[in-house]
Amino acid sequence: MTDRRAHITGTGMYVPERVVTNEDLTKLMDTSDEWIQQRSGIRERRHVEPGEETPADLALHASRRALEDAGLGPGDIDCIVLATLSAQADFPGTSFFLHERLGVGDIPCMDLRAQCCGFLYSLQMADSLVRTGVYGRVLVVGCEVHSTGIELATRGRDVAVLFGDGAGAVVVEASDGAPKGSEILEIRLHAEGRHAKKLWVEYPNSCFPGRLTHELLDAGAIYPKMEGRFVFKHAVTRMPEVLLETLNAASVKLEDVDLFLFHQANLRINEFVAKSLEIPPEKVFNNIERYGNCSAASIPMLLAEATRQGRLAKGQLVAMTAFGSGFTWASGLVRW
Ligand code: UT7
Repeated sequence: MTDRRAHITGTGMYVPERVVTNEDLTKLMDTSDEWIQQRSGIRERRHVEPGEETPADLALHASRRALEDAGLGPGDIDCIVLATLSAQADFPGTSFFLHERLGVGDIPCMDLRAQCCGFLYSLQMADSLVRTGVYGRVLVVGCEVHSTGIELATRGRDVAVLFGDGAGAVVVEASDGAPKGSEILEIRLHAEGRHAKKLWVEYPNSCFPGRLTHELLDAGAIYPKMEGRFVFKHAVTRMPEVLLETLNAASVKLEDVDLFLFHQANLRINEFVAKSLEIPPEKVFNNIERYGNCSAASIPMLLAEATRQGRLAKGQLVAMTAFGSGFTWASGLVRW
C-alpha cells in the first residue's frame, strides 16, 4: 500500500454579472424583500443573460481559475467530473461542452447527478480515482444555471426566489508522501430515494411517451416542485448527523474544526444546524445572501471565496456539509 493521498491544489469560482435583487423579483411575482430575507437570508442572486451565457461558459471560467490557482493548464488534467442538476442538454449533459471549451484532448469527462450534494459526491469520486492511481489529476466542477428553469411568476415563487446561477471548481491531485495542497481526509455520502419526489422536476419524463405535452407545459409541470417544510426538517436532521459521522471517522473533534461550509439552501437551515451543534457563528462561512442557492456549485464557490478572503489558511480544518434533492446528504473534511 503506497502513501498516495489526494489533495485539493486549486479552487475557482464564477458567477454571471447580472445581479437580481429581491426587489427585482417583486416586479415579476407576488413576493417581498422582507419575506425572502426572513425565510431564507437571501438578498440577491446572479442570473445569466438568457441566450448569451451557457452552463459550460460558467464552468469554463471557474475551471480556468482553479487550474491557474493550481499552477496548471487544461492539458495537465486526466479527467473531468462535473456535478449539476441543470444540465446544458438532457444528454450529453454539461461536462462535454466544458470539455470542448477547455480544449483538453480526449480525456474522459462525465456529469454526476446528486443535486445539492453533487460536489461532495464528485469529490469522493475524484479522491478515490486519485488515491487508487487511476488518474493523477481530476478537475471537479459544480455548475448550475437555474434561472432558465424556474418559474419567475407567483405560481413558482416558493422555489424561484431561492435559486441562483454560478459555478465552482477544484483541482484534485495525487501526492506520494510530501503534501502538495489541502489533503482530503474523509468524505461520507448518503441517499434516501423514497423522498425523491419531495423536491424534483417531473417533466420532461422518460416514463411517459413523448415526455411532455402542451397541457403539461401550460400547467407548469416542467418547473421544480418542493415540499419546503418537509425538506427543511430533513436537512436540519441529516446535516448534523453526517457531519458528526465524518468527524468521527477522521477522529477529529467538532471544536477542532476551523471553518464550516454548509450548503447554501437557506441561511435559517445553517443557523439551525450550527446552533444544534453549538458551533460558534464566526466559524461558519456563508455567501447565500449574495448568490442564493447554487446547488452543486454552492460548496466549491464557498471554498474559492473563503480562501481568497483569507477565511481559510494553510493547516486549518474545513468541514463541508450538504443536503438536497434525492434526498442526498454528505459531508467532507479537508486539512487545508
Ligand atoms: O437545496 C435543496 C434543499 N432545499 C432546502 O433545503 C429548502 C428547504 N425549505 C425551505 O428553506 C423553506 O421551507 C422555504 C424557504 C422554501 C419556505 O419557507 P417556509 O417558512 O417553509 O414557508 P412555507 O412554504 O410554509 O410558506 C409560508 C407562506 C405560504 O402562504 P400561506 O399558505 O401561509 O398563506 C406561501 O404561499 O408563504 C407563502 N410563500 C411566499 N410568500 C411570499 C411562499 N413563497 C413565497 C414567496 N414570497 N416567495
